[in-house]
Amino acid sequence: MSTPVKKVPIHLQSAQNRLMIKNGRVVNDDSIVDGDVYIEDGLIKQLGRNLIIPGGTRIIDARGKLVIPGGIDPHTHLSFEFMGAKSPDDFYQGTKAALAGGTTMLIDFALPKKGESLIEAYEHWRQLADDRVCCDYGLHVGVTWWSEKVKEEMAVLCKEHGINSFKMFMAYKDVFMVNDTELYQIFDRCKEIGAIAQVHAENGSVIAENAKKLLASGVKGPEGHERSRPEDVEAEAVNRACVIANQVSCPLYVVHVMSKSAAAVVDAARKNGQRVFGETLAAAVGTDGTHCSHPCFQHAAAHILSPPLNPDPSTKDRLVEYLANDGLQVTGSDNATFSSKDKLLGKDDFTKIPNGVNGVEDRMSVVWEKGVHSGKMDPTRFVAVTSANAAKIFNIYPRKGCIAVGSDADIVIWDPNQTRTISAKTHHQGNDFNIFEGMVCHGVPEYVIVNGRVCVDEGALKAVQGYGRFIPTPPFSPYVFEQVKSREEDKKDQEKAIADGAAAAAVAAAEI
Ligand code: URP
Ligand code: ZN
Ligand code: ZN
Ligand code: ZN
Repeated sequence: MSTPVKKVPIHLQSAQNRLMIKNGRVVNDDSIVDGDVYIEDGLIKQLGRNLIIPGGTRIIDARGKLVIPGGIDPHTHLSFEFMGAKSPDDFYQGTKAALAGGTTMLIDFALPKKGESLIEAYEHWRQLADDRVCCDYGLHVGVTWWSEKVKEEMAVLCKEHGINSFKMFMAYKDVFMVNDTELYQIFDRCKEIGAIAQVHAENGSVIAENAKKLLASGVKGPEGHERSRPEDVEAEAVNRACVIANQVSCPLYVVHVMSKSAAAVVDAARKNGQRVFGETLAAAVGTDGTHCSHPCFQHAAAHILSPPLNPDPSTKDRLVEYLANDGLQVTGSDNATFSSKDKLLGKDDFTKIPNGVNGVEDRMSVVWEKGVHSGKMDPTRFVAVTSANAAKIFNIYPRKGCIAVGSDADIVIWDPNQTRTISAKTHHQGNDFNIFEGMVCHGVPEYVIVNGRVCVDEGALKAVQGYGRFIPTPPFSPYVFEQVKSREEDKKDQEKAIADGAAAAAVAAAEI
């Protein structure tokens, strides 16, 4: 259990509560407009030109720079205990690193063990995070087992605790995995209470059998990890999750889509009108699975996560194209870091390598480099996939993910012309390896503002422990559920038309 840290009141932390960003190019997910942004008491109060503002306001000149919504990373595991290891990135270290890279909010996962109370897990994660976070955060909750109590707790979490998303695992057999019957019932419950169902989509039973065979045949090194879970094992599970969700009209969010074939399944379901969202990772677009067969165990093991990085190096560009064309909608980091020493737990058995990689700090730069700098997406799409879409899906838009009057002043002044070279030697994360080592990224956050406080100031990190807040995510996100409602009504109309037609045919037949 962690030691409590005293929370510093917000008014004592901000040097001043009035800030003006002048001469920047303001980018939202639907517009690029030259203008000034005036911030007071943590909120955006005015936007435009020739603003009348009080004296004593701090002015930041953003000429030649982009003014974008702070990044929202919808997928992190801070203070994570997993596979016998513990992440060195706790909620302080991890959110500090997030800020350094231009992320101003993240959504972590409270994951109960099988048989444990979901509400207790939620409370435990709040305790780990509340006094430590340097930026705002929210929580998803894992449903790792199923019972009447779990069903009830899901509703309580939605109604009373600001949770609107639940993650189910189709992998990690005997640890977190639930079966198809359970998935069906959990999806049904999510739909009923206005929550979005998230899935870790891989066929856990097939993986377990493949792994046994590989180990028996002498494949024990990190290369066995991907061989035990090739991409069709991911695509099959994504398809199964889509099919099951569709039976009960439950909106679905597929976390960490790592392969072309899995992305194609998400894209096809969307084109079919299903409310499905796909998230890929900074890791998936910034590196690839060739590293997992590196002769150095530590190097290879550092790249192990699930679903695996794809050994086909062309995967990353294809995933960026899916992001650019709305086949996929969101980028996360799935930040789950473990030290090189902890990765050694799997030295003689790849199934024991703690799964997880870094990314919370570098996600924004990696997506900019691979997406915008490469010419595959424009800055508005960058905003969509790094903040706005997550804010809409998890129902915190336009408070977050948007630069508009009334929104939280979570803003990044982004210099697209500066470059930085990613390295474990300079990163702010707690682990000793960086999967993007040596990558030169255009796009550097020069200022990072959270709730009106300048947390990165001309490139210098000024994070304050406990400054961030828990942001409740309310149920029934209109962005997610409006279409679900219309589809259901349409389905009912169609069923009625078929029933009416059948009844009319029966009457006609009786009259003959
Ligand atoms: O390998 C991964 N992805 N580790 C974190 C846990 C999860 O499945 O998201
Ligand atoms: Zn997962
Ligand atoms: Zn190495
Ligand atoms: Zn994860």
